[in-house]
Amino acid sequence: MRSALLAAAAAALCVSTLVQAAPATQQSAAKQIERGRYLVRIAGCNDCHTPGYAASGGKVAEKDWLVGDRLGFSGPWGTTYAGNLRLLVSQMTQQQWLARARSEMRPPMPTPSLHHMRQDDLKAIYRYIASLGPKGEPAPAYLPPGSVPTGPAVVFPNP
Ligand code: HEC
Repeated sequence: MRSALLAAAAAALCVSTLVQAAPATQQSAAKQIERGRYLVRIAGCNDCHTPGYAASGGKVAEKDWLVGDRLGFSGPWGTTYAGNLRLLVSQMTQQQWLARARSEMRPPMPTPSLHHMRQDDLKAIYRYIASLGPKGEPAPAYLPPGSVPTGPAVVFPNP
């Protein structure tokens, strides 16, 4: 009888620990997503990765953020396109995202800024973009120097 009571008490303790743990985890996930949203905003990711964002002074609904753009950036590096981060993140683990963020990217992607970002900030951005869900089409593929883009492109002069 006594051991049955003890077992019941232990079980109750376990349940109450679980019940307490759940909201705390949810809260920290929500906080991380909010931080990711803040970082995306202040680091200017939308300026290139969200169509019309910079031109409209940021007047693009959040549901349409980071879907990538068809506007090319042509220069000595070829023509680059700010990719669809919503699709990218939906196909990547957090670990793969961290590796991609640390890898080399062509101009005008602010690669040095991303390389200096702390790991927990990169994780927050990953969580935030994942929370938006996949949306849109892939951006056009990179074109090597010498190929002429068929769509609109900003042309950078040779330095
Ligand atoms: C000035 C424009 C610009 C800004 C601002 C910008 N990006 Fe980019 N981004 C690009 C371009 C262009 C590419 C494609 C680079 C290439 O082809 O090598 C790119 C590529 C990327 C990629 C790789 C995409 C893939 O398909 O592998 C990631 C990840 C990325 N950007 C994240 C970010 C984040 C996060 C921010 C904000 C901190 C940001 N970018 C801000 C222009 C920009």
